[in-house]
Amino acid sequence: MERLQKVLAQANIASRRKAEEMILAGRVKVNGEVITTLGYKVSEKDTIAVDNQPITKAQLKYFLLNKPTGYLSTVTDDKGRRTVIDLLDEEHQDTRLYPVGRLDYDTAGLLLLTNDGELTKRLTHPAYEIEKEYLVRVDGIVIRRKINELRNGVKIVPGGFVKPKEVRLIELHKAHQSTLLSITLTEGKNKQVRKMIESIGFKVKNLTRIRYDELTLDGVERGTYRSLKIHEIKRLYGHTKQKK
Ligand code: URA
Repeated sequence: MERLQKVLAQANIASRRKAEEMILAGRVKVNGEVITTLGYKVSEKDTIAVDNQPITKAQLKYFLLNKPTGYLSTVTDDKGRRTVIDLLDEEHQDTRLYPVGRLDYDTAGLLLLTNDGELTKRLTHPAYEIEKEYLVRVDGIVIRRKINELRNGVKIVPGGFVKPKEVRLIELHKAHQSTLLSITLTEGKNKQVRKMIESIGFKVKNLTRIRYDELTLDGVERGTYRSLKIHEIKRLYGHTKQKK
């Protein structure tokens, strides 16, 4: 059983708040009867109508996008900048697809998009500690002591004390005076990687997310996307089953 406003939102009728307004306004019928109680529970078997139009459940969609830099991880932007939704084919642009978490405008890489609000809520809940791996090109040579500082955890503002799950040195590029690190996080504070690098006195040159849980960018070119496979969706649900 689900709350009526949630079912309406999942059917892409309106946002949950707007759906509540519709219910209160007497526009929603369940099995032919007007329901004005918020939180009224419905099941798969119930017939729901809005303004006497029966609703059909929206097809749930799950995409893995390889985001280029220069795109916002939002659905719209009041300044008219490009968003990740602009990268989708037209047929997917009206289905209330939302990014699962965010990547900065200047960050590239793996971003999930879905209209499954329940999965998004779970994946972004810190208790589930979903792993996110980033490749970070740092300006300058990061010595071992500084890498250990990162490993032991650093303070960022705002955000407080953050400790990555793993930090690996991939490459020291002496000629270009840069360092390539892999950083795996299980949390997702705003601009966390950039702030962590700044906290040890360095700056990020390039940032790319290369893994989300067990999903990677394999076979997905920058700027393109693919649908998740059923077993991948099930695995994401499986990894968010039990709250720690
Ligand atoms: N950390 C950042 O600093 N930026 C991102 O986009 C993701 C993680």
